[in-house]
Amino acid sequence: MSFDSRIKEILITEEEINREIKKAGKWIDNNYKNSDLILIGFLRGCVPFFGRLMTSITIDFVTDFMVWSSFKGQDSRQTKPEIITDILIDIKGKDVLIIEDIIDTAETLHYALEHLKKKQPKSIKILTMLNKQEGRKVNLNPDYTCFDVENKFLVGFGLDYKEQLRNLPYVGVFKTSK
Ligand code: IMP
Ligand code: MG
Repeated sequence: MSFDSRIKEILITEEEINREIKKAGKWIDNNYKNSDLILIGFLRGCVPFFGRLMTSITIDFVTDFMVWSSFKGQDSRQTKPEIITDILIDIKGKDVLIIEDIIDTAETLHYALEHLKKKQPKSIKILTMLNKQEGRKVNLNPDYTCFDVENKFLVGFGLDYKEQLRNLPYVGVFKTSK
């Protein structure tokens, strides 16, 4: 199989992603049968996963999105990530499910939960495509994980290197230049 030259190896194939997305859709169907479900994604990494997951869910739900400033790779200062765009809908008394591409340090998620809880949802849970447990800096874990992954820099299926490679239909290990 041929793949992008910037990729060292394919870690998760499109078939494997599709299979796990179907399972995640069933989990949502079973766990949110009689609830007012709101799926919230953080742009831009969640886009392919969120899009495909939506079509695997059969119960009713509404969607909303947030944009957070990235506080990584700027300089060594660790400041709080900031909200660029907040959700637009009212989540008070509703069941919120956050849809993540990958959880690494969980720092962004920590601030996101703090922010969203102030809006008084009935419940708030996290579903992630990838979970990089070794990268954790905050003790926060997803309620549903499609794949546990090693602590390597990954790209594809929404994950970027300098905003590119999000379009790869698989998750691959990025080739470092050295
Ligand atoms: P964290 O959990 O606060 O560290 O942030 C998770 C975010 O960092 C994800 O939504 C990605 O945007 C980014 N991220 C973490 N690990 C990777 C990776 O291996 N490749 C690309 N982006 C990553
Ligand atoms: Mg992201």
